[in-house]
Amino acid sequence: KTKMKSSWVCKECGVNLGQWWGTCPSCKTPGSVKRHAEAKFLKSGAESVLDNEAVKLTVPQRLADVNKGMNKSDWRIPLNGHLGMEVARVLGGGIVPGSLVLFGGDPGVGKSTLLLQLAAIISEGCNSRGPARVVYVSGEESIEQIGNRADRMRITSEDLYLYSSTDVEDILDKVQNLSPKTLIVDSIQTVYLRDVIGSAGNITQVKECTLKLLHFAKETNIPVLLIGHVTKTGDIAGPRMLEHMVDAVLYIEGERYSSYRLLRSVKNRFGSTDELGLLEMTESGLQAVSNPNEMFLSENYSDSDVLAGLALAIVVDGSRTFVIEIQALCVSGSSVARHVNGIQESRADMIISVLMKQAGLKLQDNAIFLNVVSGFKLTETAGDLAIAAAICSSFLEFPIPHDVTFIGEVGLGGELRMVPRMDKRVTAAAKLGFKRCIVPKAAENNLSSLDLNIKILGCRTLKDVINTVF
Ligand code: TYD
Ligand code: MG
Repeated sequence: KTKMKSSWVCKECGVNLGQWWGTCPSCKTPGSVKRHAEAKFLKSGAESVLDNEAVKLTVPQRLADVNKGMNKSDWRIPLNGHLGMEVARVLGGGIVPGSLVLFGGDPGVGKSTLLLQLAAIISEGCNSRGPARVVYVSGEESIEQIGNRADRMRITSEDLYLYSSTDVEDILDKVQNLSPKTLIVDSIQTVYLRDVIGSAGNITQVKECTLKLLHFAKETNIPVLLIGHVTKTGDIAGPRMLEHMVDAVLYIEGERYSSYRLLRSVKNRFGSTDELGLLEMTESGLQAVSNPNEMFLSENYSDSDVLAGLALAIVVDGSRTFVIEIQALCVSGSSVARHVNGIQESRADMIISVLMKQAGLKLQDNAIFLNVVSGFKLTETAGDLAIAAAICSSFLEFPIPHDVTFIGEVGLGGELRMVPRMDKRVTAAAKLGFKRCIVPKAAENNLSSLDLNIKILGCRTLKDVINTVF
């Protein structure tokens, strides 16, 4: 006999609902709630992992007793080296024992590569306690394949164990005997539980397997790092659905033709979610990018020739500040097309309209292309002014000198507005050797009083900017 219950599940956030909703009550996405007939197909006699194991969890304990036995250094497993520190920063420190961390990303972006490297980093952890066991389980590759990959990346950790299996019970059984410092499972879409009907990768399997791993982590205090493929849109069994179950979610993002990767945390029970890690895929695996400028500025910026259509914005992401390059290309007389990459289309439209109406630029017969270098997604309005400047530069065929940066939001009247963290941005620009910074007039005095080695040029409107720079 099978226990069967149909339910409604939101495709976007994965919340389980008792009935159909036109708009998901949890994430407010319209039309995302779909009937899900197999949400509780369990084989006879089997109970959901949630049903039977939750009750086994311990009795309530006093805070004082909980913290007493805990050595401060036990709070997090440190990650060493440049790559380890970059990942640790995004995690808000090292890895918290007993946590379940999901690493999501498109197929081929480098999830297996990163996790194998992390396995080695944890295993070789240069803390006083010496090497630690780490188990890397793959449901996708044979141990020979993983071994080959490790060899190419020159990983030689003594205490790194490889295992190839798709049976979660079998995995946990074998792993418990080794009592490793960390367990890595690649990937959630390839493992299954015997008691759950359906093949690996279906929604019930993915959820129940995640719960099983979660309970394993909590009971044994062994952290589990879980890989999840971002599946084609509309496919429900992707990492998004698991976000609310796990402790932290990190996404690896990257453009197809770029070797740079961004590591972004979208959920973190143990730290902030606005950290961004910068990585580069090389012949021997992923490496931390130490100088973000090499990532966000195109070759043009090392040339002495200055091209029209380039402008620099200063963005803040988490605790880091970057200078990023905006490229614009205005082509008159061709078809009136717009192509935007790395900028919100509606934002770009707004800025183009303001340039036409308030600054008198005759952009109406132009095809306009906009691009943010290296796949960075500009979400802050602080980049508005640089976008406008890049468009002006291309349209007027006037190159902007290399030492100029732009900070500011553009309003509908063509006025420049302040954005948060102005001082932090200007300080970063000065440190990187830029000589001039265009800012909203209202910020000019404050910033000038910082006494940095950079000239602060306050402007009220886009017209002012054009008169100052062009
Ligand atoms: P992979 O980690 O297998 O991606 P995922 O697990 O997210 O599907 O990495 C995929 C790509 O990375 C693959 O096309 C080859 C490339 N790669 C390198 O460039 N250098 C390396 O050292 C490794 C291991 C992979
Ligand atoms: Mg993989």
